[in-house]
Amino acid sequence: MKEQLTIGIVGSGYVGLVTAVCFAELGHRVICVDSDEKKIALLRQGKPPIHEEYLPQLLERHCNGAVEFTTDLKNATQRSQALFIAVGTPQSQAGNADMSYVDAVASEIARAITSYKLVVEKSTVPVYTNEWISRIMVRNGVPRDLFDVASNPEFLREGTAVVDFLHPDRIVIGVDSGRAADVLRAVYEPLTSGNYYKQAGAVPGPRMASGLPPLLETSTKAAEIIKHASNAFLAMKISFINVVSNICEAVGADIEQVSKGIGSDGRIGHKFLKAGIGYGGSCFPKDVAAFRYVAEQMGIEFGLLSEVEKVNTEQKQRFFQKVRSALWTFRGKRLGVLGLAFKGGTDDIRESPAIDLVRMFLQEGCIISAYDPAAMEKAKQVLPASESLSFAKDAYEAAADADALLVLTDWAEFAELDLDRLSRILRYPVVIDGRNLFDPALMRQYGFTYLGIGRAAGAHEKDPAFAYKLP
Ligand code: UGA
Repeated sequence: MKEQLTIGIVGSGYVGLVTAVCFAELGHRVICVDSDEKKIALLRQGKPPIHEEYLPQLLERHCNGAVEFTTDLKNATQRSQALFIAVGTPQSQAGNADMSYVDAVASEIARAITSYKLVVEKSTVPVYTNEWISRIMVRNGVPRDLFDVASNPEFLREGTAVVDFLHPDRIVIGVDSGRAADVLRAVYEPLTSGNYYKQAGAVPGPRMASGLPPLLETSTKAAEIIKHASNAFLAMKISFINVVSNICEAVGADIEQVSKGIGSDGRIGHKFLKAGIGYGGSCFPKDVAAFRYVAEQMGIEFGLLSEVEKVNTEQKQRFFQKVRSALWTFRGKRLGVLGLAFKGGTDDIRESPAIDLVRMFLQEGCIISAYDPAAMEKAKQVLPASESLSFAKDAYEAAADADALLVLTDWAEFAELDLDRLSRILRYPVVIDGRNLFDPALMRQYGFTYLGIGRAAGAHEKDPAFAYKLP
């Protein structure tokens, strides 16, 4: 039986905002709190601060109705049955997660509590955070029977956040009491019962065909570890395939064929076996470091994760060297750059390997014309203002008159570009593809010298001496 709950969400970043509109979509009343007044003002007008599929529609559907936005955490605490903490846990200098925002929010919640509340960690946090939150509650004088702390990690990806949230592979609730379990089961009931998927206007996604999402009930500590270990494992898969791609490149095999062969083993799976220029984003780099730190604190050496990080950094360097080998010298060379976001489908540039590479090329004296369908405004804020760097209105303008075209982000629309037009507007038809978006044989047919990741180099007939392995 569906129960409507009043839920407070603290933090309106990727996870907080998507959680807020999706809980409203499931029929709950939601109060979304953020200390950033400008952001709250924008959200009250239904304007999404991030580029995310279905977010504008859900905001329009629920803004100032089922979801309200506020800066008043005290009031939100008093009116909510459950409070989800979804504030940032950035990486501190030592590599561990900086928990000061979680600490501050937990203390403020504690000071406002007058009746039973379930406090839920939604941010990615190290194991034992739930115990710290409990301690903060008690230190602030909250009686033990007036609260529970639970962990409910989120596995959504940027770019597909709403669909991932509403059609999850699994829902993990880390609870240490029956009371906490009951609240979280009620929160997710519309998904676990399948009622949401039958609703008119439900956001379409895989769960409509593949059956209901399982709800896994674990201890709070297990749930905290599940989140860190999931991200660390996925990052490891990417670094693994990137090293294999380097072997492929050395022997002239194609990594795409190798990935397909490996991924066809049901125990391994096809996902996250795409070789490229390394992983980025606000999660993997931070979470791999944080999980390694957690292990260290427990006296456990997790050298595997140090290797994952090392391979990831080297993969960027290798791409840089590949471009150098293709162009011989850098100073004054014109590079068309396609993609600045850390992956396709998002405007997020945090820890983006594309941004790092653009910086590296600029430092070498290259002249860059860059294009990204969504991330240019954000990129302008972090890249140096320089005469050598301009932003193009589309991919063709970025490519015009360039000595080489670099593909740095896997936007689907780049794979659809008119190859004939591209080959005519580039100064030299050289494409160096860090995301393997193109078919090497087709690129050769169009007259390109085409270099991908983990693939034999393909030179066109007008460039017979071309070999990117020249020192
Ligand atoms: C990641 C996880 O996939 C989510 O499950 C998790 O909830 C999220 O972190 C988080 O902790 O908040 P996200 O950072 O949005 O999601 O991006 P991913 O799609 O995982 O991609 C991360 C990076 O890996 C990107 O730079 C992407 O280009 C790269 N990648 C991904 C590859 O290089 N190869 C692949 O096969 C897959």
